[in-house]
Amino acid sequence: MGRRGTRTLAWSRVQVAWCRPGLPRYLLHACPRFLSNDPCMAVTSTPATPDAVRDTVVAWRRQLHQAPELSFQETRTSQFVADTLASFGGLEISRPTPTSVVARLVGSTNRPVLAMRADMDALPIHEANDHAFVSRTPGVMHACGHDGHTAMLLGAAQVLTARRREWRGEVRFIFQHAEELPPGGARELVEAGVLDGVDLVIGAHLWLPLAFGEVSVKAGPLMASPDNFRIVIEGAGGHAAMPHVTVDSIAVAAQVVTNLQHVVSRGVDPLASVVVSVTRISGGTAYNVIPGSVELEGTVRTFDPELRERVPQLMERVIAGVSAAHGARYRFEFTRGYHPVVNAQEAADLLRRAVTRALGPDALVEGIPTMGGEDFSAYQQEVPGAFFFIGARNEAEGIVHPHHHERFDLDERALDYGTRIFVAAAEEYLVSDPR
Ligand code: NI
Repeated sequence: MGRRGTRTLAWSRVQVAWCRPGLPRYLLHACPRFLSNDPCMAVTSTPATPDAVRDTVVAWRRQLHQAPELSFQETRTSQFVADTLASFGGLEISRPTPTSVVARLVGSTNRPVLAMRADMDALPIHEANDHAFVSRTPGVMHACGHDGHTAMLLGAAQVLTARRREWRGEVRFIFQHAEELPPGGARELVEAGVLDGVDLVIGAHLWLPLAFGEVSVKAGPLMASPDNFRIVIEGAGGHAAMPHVTVDSIAVAAQVVTNLQHVVSRGVDPLASVVVSVTRISGGTAYNVIPGSVELEGTVRTFDPELRERVPQLMERVIAGVSAAHGARYRFEFTRGYHPVVNAQEAADLLRRAVTRALGPDALVEGIPTMGGEDFSAYQQEVPGAFFFIGARNEAEGIVHPHHHERFDLDERALDYGTRIFVAAAEEYLVSDPR
């Protein structure tokens, strides 16, 4: 960024100041303490439109991107969010867990209550990008776009705070920790009561499978349950030249891997959606030693609750049968991950109206379900809610790498889309809605 001093940006009435020692605290809110040596923008008046906060939102995203923190360790990130929210004035801010932040914006009445959620955590990936705001923490990277989620919801909070007298009801901003690491932050926040009194909850993901310019919304099943499993095949080790006096755990494990695909292709209705993936095989120490055991790990993805119950039973039948056929024993552990993300019709309808209001009808496309998981589902277990995708891919700019990739990046224009949609959702729900 440029020189120190103050200037007025052409795109708004907002005056910005570069951070420097001695600035009043209200000017420093946009400078995370962990980047205190950096010049950064601070908004000195309260903008009332998404246009006015657009560049600030990009600056926030870049600051967060430079200082990523892993799940349950978002100490500085959450402090930055809390400080920034406090600088807007008029928000009731709380810290339900050590690394999360909730802000309540209460209008002329207490009801209805619309909750909006952003996640804040990064991933254990070493960033391979070479842009100016690359991660400064080796081995940790915002490789899923949660930096953008945080920034665009802060932008919406700033706009909506300036306009709180326009509507009845409450907007509740949930800045959640630990989306990436089961059991996930959402469940903790639900248990802490952050949804008390909430009528509807919405959340977004910046989405690389979707081109910038498109926003997808879908009622019903959207994201799967990311369950996981561990299998140990126990044979009897020995010399590789004398397999007849061993029980070869590698040969049995290989058959288990192959036969598990029969669960999907022959055990489940072909019109249903199931994934069984073995993702790790570990066993053996040398070319001439048959190992005593082999360990397998993997994931199961389903949408349907009944299928979610049945697939582990089908898997165990295969594992037990194959092991018994060859004289091996087995251990099978199945761990439930997040619930599937299933969007309520009412919430999806609100999002469709919000996208159309914010961006026009051409931006809105029908959502395509993905077998990826999201702990947003924990909120949907409590209240009606909808999750949606904001396109952030840009082929021409080379912004094409998938989520969780070391070169993941976003078309930052999508941040403005997110801010606009959240603002429009509040307008639709708390102003236009005749209830
Ligand atoms: Ni994510």
